[in-house]
Amino acid sequence: MAAITFDKATLQYPGNPRPTINNMDLEIRDGEFVAVVGPSGSGKSTTLRMVAGLEKLTGGEIFIGDVPASTLAPSKRDVAMVFQSYALYPHMTVAENMAFALKMQNIKKDEQDRRVAEASRLLDLDQYLERYPKALSGGQRQRVAMGRAIVRDPQVFLLDEPLSNLDAKLRVSTRAEISQLQRRLNTTMLYVTHDQTEAMTMADRIAVLEGGNMQQVGTPEELYMQPANAFVATFIGTPSMNLVTGTIEGDQIAIGHIHLPLPVLKSQPTADRVLVGMRPENFRLVSAEESSAKARAEYVENFGADKYVHLSIDGLNDLGDFLIRVPNTTKVMQGDVLGIEFDTKYIHLFDGETKERLN
Ligand SMILES: Nc1ncnc2c1ncn2[C@@H]1O[C@H](COP(=O)(O)OP(=O)(O)OP(=O)(O)O)[C@@H](O)[C@H]1O
Ligand SMILES: [Mg+2]
Repeated sequence: MAAITFDKATLQYPGNPRPTINNMDLEIRDGEFVAVVGPSGSGKSTTLRMVAGLEKLTGGEIFIGDVPASTLAPSKRDVAMVFQSYALYPHMTVAENMAFALKMQNIKKDEQDRRVAEASRLLDLDQYLERYPKALSGGQRQRVAMGRAIVRDPQVFLLDEPLSNLDAKLRVSTRAEISQLQRRLNTTMLYVTHDQTEAMTMADRIAVLEGGNMQQVGTPEELYMQPANAFVATFIGTPSMNLVTGTIEGDQIAIGHIHLPLPVLKSQPTADRVLVGMRPENFRLVSAEESSAKARAEYVENFGADKYVHLSIDGLNDLGDFLIRVPNTTKVMQGDVLGIEFDTKYIHLFDGETKERLN
């Protein structure tokens, strides 16, 4: 096991005007499970490839344990990577696929067998060991790809979207399995996904990347409760946080004719114009007479346990898609005009210019 430390790690591909990974700082503790999330093209796979030694840094350094990775050939890094587009060897059985790397390392046959048996038991692959990949489902193949990494007993696991080929149900059960597996093996894990739910449910900490720049690193709770900027605020959480433009007026924030109390600010805004973030679950629907903020339910989606209500708010244009989440016991139908109440202790304020968090 080993910690991984990114120290201003930078990668700029030749011919690209901007770095693909820009001055990345990130410390992953020994045995920690860190998820890297971000939209497509944000540099997630590149981050893993840098740790594995498949890309050469153009600035900064990555340490594996105390050792600068730039001094280690990829084969000496003791990391196992499961690629986004992994490929199994089609002419080898499941057992042979898993043992292949061990064979290359000249590990004794009985030790190979022991490790394959252990990984196969962990991944529930015992009954498939003699099959060829073409006779496996996508989910089973994915588990074999994981098995190939596990048998190597590496210091660090690098997983790139390992659940992307699974159906929704299998994805949920497999993500729980991977979390448990990681805790049991206690191996440092860097896990890439574009799915923030996956990251939130699995990881000890999450690193949010956008355009090669680290936006925030923190526990799932920290990212959810105190997003550092408007990007993280809307990226983390489903349905997304509502973000509307407001103006600071004395000790209040005005959103059109609606006034909310200004929370304590930790940094000073660059202008009076701010972005006000409100999570969908922090609203309540009341009767139209009970609130000065009146809204019309434009569209209601029923999710079983709760309903998502898309609203337009009286007197406010340019709201975008404004969505609240209410328990399924709430009576609301498309076209209803209702009052809305927001629990202001959950307000998030961001600078209108820099988009950085203010409260
Ligand atoms: N070999 C390369 N040469 C030049 N640019 C590259 C190269 N490989 C990747 N890039 C660019 O670097 C950026 C980051 O790519 P990367 O594969 O890390 O994204 P990602 O976050 O993993 O995206 P996805 O979610 O789609 O897998 C992209 O804009 C990509 O086009
Ligand atoms: Mg990728």
